[in-house]
Amino acid sequence: METTGPRTVESIAAHFHDVDSSAVPEDFIAYLRKMEESESGRAVREATYRAVEAAGSRGADIGCGAGRAVADLVRLGKDAVGVDSSQAMVDAALARFPHCHVVRGSAFELPFEDAELSWYRSERTFLHFPDPAEALSEARRVLRPGGTIVLADPDLASMVVSSRIPETTEVVKDAFCSAVPNPHAGTHNAYHLADAGFTDISVVPVMASLNDHASAFGVVLEPALTAALTQGVVSEEAAARWKDDLGDLSRRNAFTATAIFFVTTARLAP
Ligand SMILES: C[S@@+](CC[C@H](N)C(=O)[O-])C[C@H]1O[C@@H](n2cnc3c(N)ncnc32)[C@H](O)[C@@H]1O
Repeated sequence: METTGPRTVESIAAHFHDVDSSAVPEDFIAYLRKMEESESGRAVREATYRAVEAAGSRGADIGCGAGRAVADLVRLGKDAVGVDSSQAMVDAALARFPHCHVVRGSAFELPFEDAELSWYRSERTFLHFPDPAEALSEARRVLRPGGTIVLADPDLASMVVSSRIPETTEVVKDAFCSAVPNPHAGTHNAYHLADAGFTDISVVPVMASLNDHASAFGVVLEPALTAALTQGVVSEEAAARWKDDLGDLSRRNAFTATAIFFVTTARLAP
């Protein structure tokens, strides 16, 4: 089965905090498009849209990537602004959705006035923040009292796969977790929000089933395996055995892979 080359996918797992330093920003954009087009990607996005439905019009999608959610929220009647720290992402979003407002900016220094926004959305971005509390302090500044925040991230420890070599799966999973700055963002966002003084916190888990072998490798297993190879915790032989096993299961319709996203919603006290 064809999958993305290892060096590139390792840099994707570990370098989403600085896409523009990569020699291949287009690989990051292609990676996001794979997740975007998956059934699970749609389910996660829709859960976040429901979370901001009742909020006022003006809000922002922080770490908006290639812009899909900004365009959807504009279509749903929101005055949505996309913010991303990567110029390559901003350019990709504007090329796809020229009618949208997308700007380059950092989650740690947002281009908004105090209390300007009614909602703040961020999907799979807190995963890449070593210090989420700092981003939440900035979110508090730009949200108006009573404003809504919704964060959607996986907890990378939730990854399961139908491998018959579970000990390799565990090593691969641990390596993936250590390659990403905030791997448990999905389950940790709630207490970070509580610590930052947000109220009415609710967490909705969304199961991402990746039963299609190629999608599972494209979105999560290849980046995870490459992290393990790069860290030297799995040998080339063990990696090949693990991949062959999953390929064999796939040919017999016995392949399954799952991870859990957590959509965490909260409000700034009125
Ligand atoms: C995994 S992508 C997710 C993109 C998009 N939310 C999605 O779900 O398709 C993470 C995005 O966050 C952006 N990013 C990383 N660090 C950031 C920061 N400090 N401020 C704003 N954006 C950031 C990256 O450039 C990238 O586009």
